[in-house]
Amino acid sequence: MIRVSNITKAGRSLLMAATMLSGLAPMAHPSGAQAADGHSAEMPRLVREDGRYALMVDGAPYLVLGAQANNSSNWPSVLPQVWPAVDQVQANTLLMPIAWQQIEPTEGKFDFSFLDTLLAQAREHKKHLVLLWFGTWKNNSPSYAPDWVKLDNDRFPRVVESKGIMRGSLSPLAPATLDADRKAFVAFMRHLKQVDGQQHTVLMVQVENETGTYRAIRDFSPMAQKVFDGKVPDDLVKALKKQPGTWKDVFGKDADEFFHAYYVARFVDQVAAAGKAEYPIPMYVNAALRDPFKDQDPYSYSSGGPTWNVLDIWKAAAPNIDLIGPDIYERGYDFYTKTLEQYKRPDNALFVAETGNDSVYARYVFATLGHQGIGFAPFGIDYTRYVNYPLGAAKIDAEALEPFAMNFKLLGSLNRELAALSLKGKVWGASEPTAEHSNTLDLGPYKVTVGYGLPQFGEAKPTGNDKPCGGVVIAELAPNEYLVAGYHARVDFAQTTKAGKNGFMMASVEEGHFENGKWVFERLWNGDQTDYGLNFTSIPQILKVRFATY
Ligand code: DGJ
Repeated sequence: MIRVSNITKAGRSLLMAATMLSGLAPMAHPSGAQAADGHSAEMPRLVREDGRYALMVDGAPYLVLGAQANNSSNWPSVLPQVWPAVDQVQANTLLMPIAWQQIEPTEGKFDFSFLDTLLAQAREHKKHLVLLWFGTWKNNSPSYAPDWVKLDNDRFPRVVESKGIMRGSLSPLAPATLDADRKAFVAFMRHLKQVDGQQHTVLMVQVENETGTYRAIRDFSPMAQKVFDGKVPDDLVKALKKQPGTWKDVFGKDADEFFHAYYVARFVDQVAAAGKAEYPIPMYVNAALRDPFKDQDPYSYSSGGPTWNVLDIWKAAAPNIDLIGPDIYERGYDFYTKTLEQYKRPDNALFVAETGNDSVYARYVFATLGHQGIGFAPFGIDYTRYVNYPLGAAKIDAEALEPFAMNFKLLGSLNRELAALSLKGKVWGASEPTAEHSNTLDLGPYKVTVGYGLPQFGEAKPTGNDKPCGGVVIAELAPNEYLVAGYHARVDFAQTTKAGKNGFMMASVEEGHFENGKWVFERLWNGDQTDYGLNFTSIPQILKVRFATY
């Protein structure tokens, strides 16, 4: 029998060790205002340990519980409609575009007034920011580039598709475009360092938005064709362990798409590198997805963007990009979880850069954590009354945002603990599936079954919730000691190998919460509350469960 006092001590020391190893600060203030309070505010950075990741904020692992505003909300006049929704959804971070057209309407003349206003308001609202550089690419097009760029096809050439038709997307191979974008981005990052280099309200910068090109696999202009007819650059050949040759020789039928991906990634990488030379905070790109299961004609998605089939190319070509995050606007469980698997890689931190704001997406924050995610950000979170239905919800109000708010409230109260334990590989998560009404998690010594649509009392078959809304997160504090939290789900632990002589039991189930990094006990669950598994409803509840054998 495991001695209860030892487990508790062990539990405490594992969290302490995770805390110390990762420098877990006692619940740092989300705004970065602590610098003024004398708290040391370190630069945000992404750390990697054994193929797992954490975003370090004020020196400790942090989960981005984000909210992205709508595309045209990047104006001072709109911010009063943004903050109430961000507060409502209980996000700790606002993701907001910084448009090239807005900061450099005239070439060489910069205006950072929106950024300054946004920063000041974010600090007042005690929120962090992730800034999205809408430059050469915004969903394939240069729509957010200034007129002097997007109206000058000679200086800033567009992609020409195979039949000679010019597309909206700019060519990644035009040195003038790279030069102009890079200059603007450098000015932006230089300014950001001046205004935020101490407080670190801004955690990350997204470089461009959903790069790639619709309705053309690559640029077929004579200028691009010349490059395509040449050799695949050595760095890519080496990184992919290929034999040297032309694009056609090396990549066959994929040559056109891989060529485009490589040069889009190289462009973005050079922009990011120049920005980091000014102010080196984490930089990432987001991906418009292709079907995660089957081959798809590149004409039907954003060819050259960081879709799953070209992640190796992007990784090789864009070393200054810290991570590639999927934008997930598919409600289906299999699509969603497959995409999480594809973007969680030993060489890529998982960050759900965008997801739909309809209620059924909310539960996927749990699966994201289960895939070692460092953050999750629903899109279209403001009260401008714009709805991007059918991708998102048909209406955005407090009621529509509630499923996200519930989850962010619960996870926000565990933010630092979960982020630190996740970096150590001690976090699991499950979201409600739809074809079946339960799923299992493999914790090593325990197999956990999570059932959805079960009563709190008595044995029954899971039937699923009326709308899929269940989710659970589990974190190992010490051998045989776990934090368990979630909604609309029943959690059952089973031993995978028989440890005790006769059986095992939940020695104690404490309900409580964390305050300044310390567990605060509220009550014990027992009897009906534990006899039929651990039943989570719509109430935010955190349990600390200890197992013992007899
Ligand atoms: C993905 C893009 O990255 C966003 O900016 C936005 O256009 C959404 N799609 C759709 O609302």
